[in-house]
Amino acid sequence: MSKIYIQGIGHYVPAKILSNQDLEQMVDTSDEWITTRTGIKKRHVVEKETCSDLAYQASLKALEDAGLKATDLTHIVLATFTPDTYVPNGASHLQKKLGCAPTPCFDINAACTGFLYALEVGRGLCLTNPKAKVLVVAAEALTSRVNFTDRSTCVLFGDAGGAVILSTEPGKAEVKNILIQADGSLGDLLTIKGGGSAYPPKLGEPIDEKYFVEMQGREVFKYAVRSMADICLELLAKENLSSKDIDLFIPHQANIRIIEALTKKLNLDVDKVFINVQNYGNTSAASIPLALSEAFEQKKIKKGDKVLLVAFGGGFTWGASLLQF
Ligand code: UT7
Repeated sequence: MSKIYIQGIGHYVPAKILSNQDLEQMVDTSDEWITTRTGIKKRHVVEKETCSDLAYQASLKALEDAGLKATDLTHIVLATFTPDTYVPNGASHLQKKLGCAPTPCFDINAACTGFLYALEVGRGLCLTNPKAKVLVVAAEALTSRVNFTDRSTCVLFGDAGGAVILSTEPGKAEVKNILIQADGSLGDLLTIKGGGSAYPPKLGEPIDEKYFVEMQGREVFKYAVRSMADICLELLAKENLSSKDIDLFIPHQANIRIIEALTKKLNLDVDKVFINVQNYGNTSAASIPLALSEAFEQKKIKKGDKVLLVAFGGGFTWGASLLQF
């Protein structure tokens, strides 16, 4: 089987910052509660920008990093659950901005695990098309689906984009393995019900809570820790590695307490864990490529490093990937 490589990495966040102090003015919450329960201090939020704007800026950076032009791309895979529109798909808006028609483009919705699902699809495209140059991008204008009167969710989320370019040509990191899993029976614990065919919008009916993120936080927390720990161990076993062999661990940035519990379960050295949840909150699908790109930019990754990625999200979905830099 051909080897698959990441050629370029990039990320983008919108300029506007929403701090915990700002949220104190909006709902009955406190900086103290948000910081101790989640680790989040601030998040970046869109004003006029859309999902494809975030994806576009991140993609330009990844293309530049790879030394490629948009017209070199053979496929665009966008992980998101907050596309600009449902039809056309979010990736079409991105492709238009990149000016690279007729490159095929489509969306993947696996909530916060979206990037790892898209990476697996990108890997498949590279394996069947040895000349492929696949843009795997994740972007969420997530605050467009956050209920800013619900304190249990509105303090958690932020907006961002992150991208990588995949190909079979040797590049900065080899994608050694990817594992993705799901359990659809738990979908109700983290959901946006309104607007789908089960809850279609009706002309003249008001928009209510079901059109926004609803989450049973405590339940999600438990499954998140267990599923991410298990899939990391499964991936490490497949690669004949132990957690001691990992140079940098990049978990989904949803909650510092989830990251700490996971670090403990995996017996990882805390110095090997990359954390930026304090600055961005939970950016869903964008969380992993944003953290990967920042870690690289901050020179936390050296040549030869083994980097373990893991994510968990609505569906439930979860996944892990091992990169070799
Ligand atoms: O990215 C996809 C995966 N998503 C996640 O991983 C999120 C997983 N879940 C979590 O991170 C945590 O469950 C939360 C951060 C969402 C909540 O933390 P928690 O420690 O599980 O709190 P809780 O929901 O059990 O609520 C504890 C208390 C409640 O009050 P009572 O019933 O004890 O009086 C809530 O009403 O905290 C209250 N509360 C708040 N208080 C101040 C909930 N949200 C807030 C808030 N400010 N923003």
